[in-house]
Amino acid sequence: MHFKTYECLEYHILRLNNYQNLSFTCCNTNQKILYSQLILLELNKITNILYYTFLQSNLNLRQPESIPSTAPQIREFTLDELSKFNGSGGTPAYAAINGVVYDVSLSPAWGGGSHFGLLAGKDLTHEFAGCHKSMDILNSLPRVGILEP
Ligand code: HEM
Repeated sequence: MHFKTYECLEYHILRLNNYQNLSFTCCNTNQKILYSQLILLELNKITNILYYTFLQSNLNLRQPESIPSTAPQIREFTLDELSKFNGSGGTPAYAAINGVVYDVSLSPAWGGGSHFGLLAGKDLTHEFAGCHKSMDILNSLPRVGILEP
């Protein structure tokens, strides 16, 4: 197997593991549904890499039916990209919790991108865990994507 393909495969397997761990540890139903969709997406990618790898080795394999996934196209943010959504200059205010990016622009508790001294545009997983007992208060917030693992 070509090294690049191996790297790519390893990258998606690591993400798959990451989403499985997050899914096991989180107790919020909405979050679990999102993680199961992300798991399906990674499985699709892994299946396709394996199929095309072995196709190249001319093994006459039947094209895999892609695993049906209800996952909408999910936007991935790097921390740098997320930092641009801090609510200033008319930009939306986003905050990441447990790998999921939420739009807090319209939350009354997040006027203008700040909340009890915290600023939007960051991964606030640690701060959230320190201040809020339940993830349920996030259910009303639009989810706009995920943080790149
Ligand atoms: C320094 C840490 C934090 C403190 C002290 C804090 C404190 C509070 C307090 C006192 C409220 C109730 C406000 C009210 O009813 O007007 C609240 C609401 C809220 N907080 Fe935080 N918070 C913290 C971190 C976070 C983080 C990191 C998030 C991530 C998105 C968050 C999301 C929310 C949301 C969405 C609400 C509104 C809930 C609702 O609509 O009922 N908080 N927070």
